[in-house]
Amino acid sequence: MVREFLRELRIDPCGFDPDELIELFLEEMDAGLTGRGSSLPMIPAYVGVQASVPYDEPVIVIDAGGTNLRVCLVEFVKQGDLKISHFTKVPMPGTQGELSADAFYARLVDLIEPIASQSDRIGFCFSYPVEIQPDLGGVLLHWSKEVRVPELVGQCVAAGLAQALKNRELGEKQIVILNDTVACLLAGRAAGEQLGSDSFVGFILGTGTNTAYVEKNVAISKVSGLNPDGAQVVNVESGGFDRCVRGALDVKLDEQSINPGLHLFEKMISGVYLGQLAFELISEAANREFFTDSAVCAWRKQTELSWVDANLFLQNPDKPSGVFAEFSASDRAVLSELLGTVVDRAALFTAVNISAAAIKSGGGFSADHPLCINIDGSTYYKTHQLAEKVHAHLTRLLSARGIHYHCQQVEDAPIVGAAIAGLTAF
Ligand code: BGC
Repeated sequence: MVREFLRELRIDPCGFDPDELIELFLEEMDAGLTGRGSSLPMIPAYVGVQASVPYDEPVIVIDAGGTNLRVCLVEFVKQGDLKISHFTKVPMPGTQGELSADAFYARLVDLIEPIASQSDRIGFCFSYPVEIQPDLGGVLLHWSKEVRVPELVGQCVAAGLAQALKNRELGEKQIVILNDTVACLLAGRAAGEQLGSDSFVGFILGTGTNTAYVEKNVAISKVSGLNPDGAQVVNVESGGFDRCVRGALDVKLDEQSINPGLHLFEKMISGVYLGQLAFELISEAANREFFTDSAVCAWRKQTELSWVDANLFLQNPDKPSGVFAEFSASDRAVLSELLGTVVDRAALFTAVNISAAAIKSGGGFSADHPLCINIDGSTYYKTHQLAEKVHAHLTRLLSARGIHYHCQQVEDAPIVGAAIAGLTAF
């Protein structure tokens, strides 16, 4: 009965054919590259993977993520490790109430001010859909992850920050804006080169989700004037993929979000939405009498559920805490199945997304040159059994296509990648 319920709501991944989804992903990617209508913006990053990183030169790094804003100074030390200093972290402006554009930039400048004199270069990892300009500034297309700074939409973020720095008399800076998946891909490059990798993918599943890969310029036909012999990193904005058939709860969750109709794929798998999805799923299961009366009674007092709490339960169903402590053993068995299936679907979709980027990259056709897939994001690494499930799918989906690959994680990938871009892009 629980299975049927999960199938009806399209949470059960058995209702999806991964090979078909990969084909749909590839179709959307092609359409996005050629400028035909697509749910995948396929944004050229104007960043390649060839440049070598200068040593002993500090660069200011800003990492504007879905949850936190981090600012620090980074230096690649010759014959040594990466040096990260003057690290500060605050909640991402706009996640705790609406802000004006001026207030947003003021928060950034507050954090940059103490280190502004140490470098004229800024690598700005901005984890939102931004149309990168050839001068590496970036125009915000729209916000994702429920951030509220509406004035910034349509503005060039690099120009706004440069002006705010000037207004505070902090000098002129060369600012490179890049997406966090592009940063993640660049951060994985050093390790990938040691493996002999012939191409690279950056994938993130955290508060939001997205993918970047290396594409030949000739395939990016929507942009004229690119060097036809070159290649560059493309930000897929894969969270926008809209060809998965959604269930009633997915539709409800989208309607309640700040950007209905956008980021539909992200709303089915990423950290900021999984808690809400789990909440709606448990509430619907309670309506359909899948739980005992006492569990339903306790659940009805609940107004929300964080994915952290849902995940805690999945990791330890026999030691429930919070509202789940009111659930009997049979209730907890149902709950495990419901939440486990949410993870199963997220794992399948994640593997489909990574596989599409891997196939499109054209890399990994020789075991001596495996495709390097750098993966980042708290939801990916912290969700109970998610990474194992993704790997099982990838083994099947990519091996069947003769693609050799290597998945890895680089510590502080967005910061490392933004530093590389900040130091090499001009
Ligand atoms: C954003 C992407 C970002 C991803 C992962 C999404 O919400 O639109 O630009 O790469 O989250 O952080």
